Amino acid sequence: MKIIKTKDYDQMSRVAANIISAQVIIKPKCVLGLATGSTPIGTYKQLVEWYKKGDVDFSEVTTVNLDEYKGLSPENDQSYRYFMNTNLFDHVNIDKTRTFVPNGLEADSEKACSDYNQIIQDCGGIDLQLLGLGNNGHIGFNEPSNAFEKETHCVALTQSTIDANARFFASMDEVPKEAYTMGIKTIMQAKKIVVVVNGAQKADIVKKAFFGPITPEVPASILQLHNDVTVVGDEAALSAL
Ligand code: F6R
Repeated sequence: MKIIKTKDYDQMSRVAANIISAQVIIKPKCVLGLATGSTPIGTYKQLVEWYKKGDVDFSEVTTVNLDEYKGLSPENDQSYRYFMNTNLFDHVNIDKTRTFVPNGLEADSEKACSDYNQIIQDCGGIDLQLLGLGNNGHIGFNEPSNAFEKETHCVALTQSTIDANARFFASMDEVPKEAYTMGIKTIMQAKKIVVVVNGAQKADIVKKAFFGPITPEVPASILQLHNDVTVVGDEAALSAL
């Protein structure tokens, strides 16, 4: 595992964007695994900037996202599809038909998950997977539990996540209660993994995940077994190491 310490969020974003753009330059037809959340926003912003300067070309890139809320349409501004469109896809020359996010509108969970596994398999696997890290060690929506889930699956959101999301919706009925997420085996099969972390609130979990015991109670700890992981973190996030 490589750890790159940056002085702040902007530098973290530039380093992560550099690794991603190097991947795209070396293999223009690559498959990028992407994440949502607040941490990678700066990385996407940087990639858009470099695209506009003519330094990166996304025309042959395929993307597969980690997760999506079950029940949300791509137009819903809380959906992860909407996040990806507005933060990255709408601003670069990517072919949107080759950008994949689990289908939140598929009510049949088994079908949604097997369709997504098939999409990932048809892409030929992931060259580079970008990950954020949850405060409890989750990656994607793989929450702490007593076993690692291998492939795409449907997860029940915790009550605290549902409550936290409630403010974005008109009524409690509309708040998603479940999500589809890529599984741990699929993430681990990515050839290269880049984890972005920032802020002091991540310091304890960074230490646990990357230096503590490997356990499904801290899902990100499994990344210690991958042979090409780069953690890019600002000083605050890496302060407990
Ligand atoms: C998002 C995702 C999540 C986030 C994690 C960290 O697609 O899969 O695992 O990466 O919750 O979120 P932030 O970056 O908001 O701290």
